[in-house]
Amino acid sequence: MEANIVLLPGDGIGPEIVAQAKRLLEGVATKFGHSFTTSEHAIGGNAIDAFGDPLPQSTIDACKASHAILLGAVGGPKWDDPTARTRPEVGLLKIRKELGLFANLRPIQTYPELVDASPLRREIVEGTDILFFRELTGGIYFGKSGRRPHPSGEEAFNEMVYSTGEVERIVRMAARAAQQRRGKLTSVDKANVLEVSRLWRQTAERVMKEEFPDVAYDVVLIDSMAMHLISRPRDFDVVVTGNMFGDILTDEASMLPGSLGLLPSASLGSEGPGLYEPIHGSAPDIAGKNVANPLATFLACAMLFRHSLGLTAEAVAIEEVVAATLKAGYRTKDIAAGGPSISTSEMGDVVLQQMTA
Ligand code: IPM
Ligand code: MG
Repeated sequence: MEANIVLLPGDGIGPEIVAQAKRLLEGVATKFGHSFTTSEHAIGGNAIDAFGDPLPQSTIDACKASHAILLGAVGGPKWDDPTARTRPEVGLLKIRKELGLFANLRPIQTYPELVDASPLRREIVEGTDILFFRELTGGIYFGKSGRRPHPSGEEAFNEMVYSTGEVERIVRMAARAAQQRRGKLTSVDKANVLEVSRLWRQTAERVMKEEFPDVAYDVVLIDSMAMHLISRPRDFDVVVTGNMFGDILTDEASMLPGSLGLLPSASLGSEGPGLYEPIHGSAPDIAGKNVANPLATFLACAMLFRHSLGLTAEAVAIEEVVAATLKAGYRTKDIAAGGPSISTSEMGDVVLQQMTA
């Protein structure tokens, strides 16, 4: 297969981990007989510095012409000034919208070797395997916003809007994933308060009843879900929710496995390239030190092969190598629990060696 993959290294540790992922993509290409063309483009803080824009048009054009996109991370203290004209995060929100990436998939899986690093007890988290579908291009993060005068000074507002069609498409995508997994879907909303959630719930229930009678479906309110997620995480299979609830729940869920450095995510639309990234962010405090964990980015590459290129064997090969690497005891500093650790590039070496062995 020939594929054109855009790399967006971004800020902080982004460039280091994407450099290792590039080596892995080349390793997979050699092993399985593919030819991948990669090109690097700017996004986030470095794009603000170089172009005055966190998402330059040249990056958008390159992404639109690609088969898949691999992103490192964006943001850092250098661009945190709340009065700045623009911010790195704007680049991320804009690329999601430009490419129609309405579904953010975040798998939360535990690795037996790392469960004791979880802030929760082993008997609660062990065996947790949840796939989140967070709606990514609508809701309150994309509604009208502004400020207006108020007797006390000012008031600010953000509108939360969802249409029937926006709910239908993400619920369908999540339900199809549930059919391939343990056959359970949980929709999370705040229908006891929000009109938007009442439309969400009505729509989700109709889609599930009419199109997915084989999937066990339930509904949980967002505040209860925040509790259930840490008291009985094993009970959930696929979870679907709106943009802001999903943002918060997936960060909460990312703590369950005890290792942020292992969690990838995929952002998908109904057509066109998908965008794949580790969820750990730019970690400016350790940037440039060759200590960051590249495994989440490797697992993001696995998702890229599976969802954008349809290369399942290649995806499985990466996932197996990552699991074997952990089993063999290799650790970057973040997951070493104070024990011996290897560097970012050494982890790249180990994974690549096993991949091409
Ligand atoms: C995420 C991030 C982004 C979001 C920020 C950086 C805009 O937190 O991908 O979850 O809230 O969507
Ligand atoms: Mg977030």
